Amino acid sequence: MAPHGEGSEEAMVVQDENRKPISSILIVIAMQTEAMPIVNKFQLKEDLDSVLIRQRMMMIQVSKRGALGQISWRLQRSPYQLSMAWKGSKSGLLCTEFLKTINFHLHQIHTFQDTQYQFLYSPVQDMDMGYAFYLGVDSVGTISASLVTYAAIQALQPDLIINAGTAGSFKVKGASISDVFLASDVAFHDRRIPIPVFDLYGVGSRQSFSTPNLLKELNLKAGKLSTGDSLDMSPQEEASIVANDATVKDMEGAAVAYVADLLKVPAIFIKAVTDIVDGDKPTAEEFLQNLAAVTAALEQAVTQVVDFINGKCLSEL
Ligand code: ADE
Repeated sequence: MAPHGEGSEEAMVVQDENRKPISSILIVIAMQTEAMPIVNKFQLKEDLDSVLIRQRMMMIQVSKRGALGQISWRLQRSPYQLSMAWKGSKSGLLCTEFLKTINFHLHQIHTFQDTQYQFLYSPVQDMDMGYAFYLGVDSVGTISASLVTYAAIQALQPDLIINAGTAGSFKVKGASISDVFLASDVAFHDRRIPIPVFDLYGVGSRQSFSTPNLLKELNLKAGKLSTGDSLDMSPQEEASIVANDATVKDMEGAAVAYVADLLKVPAIFIKAVTDIVDGDKPTAEEFLQNLAAVTAALEQAVTQVVDFINGKCLSEL
């Protein structure tokens, strides 16, 4: 067998794959507010038959019975839903799968503790639903992002993943609110493991799928993306973001990249700026203030990207 690398069997298989037309795109989005303009633009319908909905997580309950310690297993339907799936088609694209990770109904997600969030007020949910009290919260962050990406790849076998969402950016990098970035690289900034090799694993740096034509044609900004599980930024995280040379900061990208890499699906990252992290305003306030307007910019960019991809193969991107 030829060795790995250029000219190897593996490389030739990848080359062949890259020459096939893209027929299925998976868009992973964390928040309902970010997803709805895209769902509406593509006139997607909620896919109630999706395996991602039907295959709710199973919970195995083990109970010991009797003097001999006989074990009985009971399979229960878990009370939480992994994702909402949306489905639609576009001429030339056989199937576009839109997946958003929203609505872990927290009153159901974990029967032991999460009911405490059931009737709390969220300004974000207020924006989405038009009412203040709600039964769940958008499952932002790396854990749910990796879960749904894994489940969706297994179920849908997409040719390409687009992780779309909002992000913070930096005025020292010349960013402004509503700028849309296509990330060239992604890495984590909150996984500090100061042991040789584990340190690199923690940072988890990965290149996104290279799309030079897309970048040129759509005039998107290019920059590196850094991911962590917090909206704010500690001094240590700031140092890691600088070390990652990141221009944009989000809460999902590197987790999606990790799973995409694991399962060998090319992934790109489109991030629209809601807040300037090194600016004057508190991040949460600025984020909420700009969220609705910036999701419109995100929708436009995703629409342009999907239109550009339509009819092309990976090697043409
Ligand atoms: N999403 C939007 N703004 C963000 C920020 N400042 N950090 C992480 N994720 C974000």
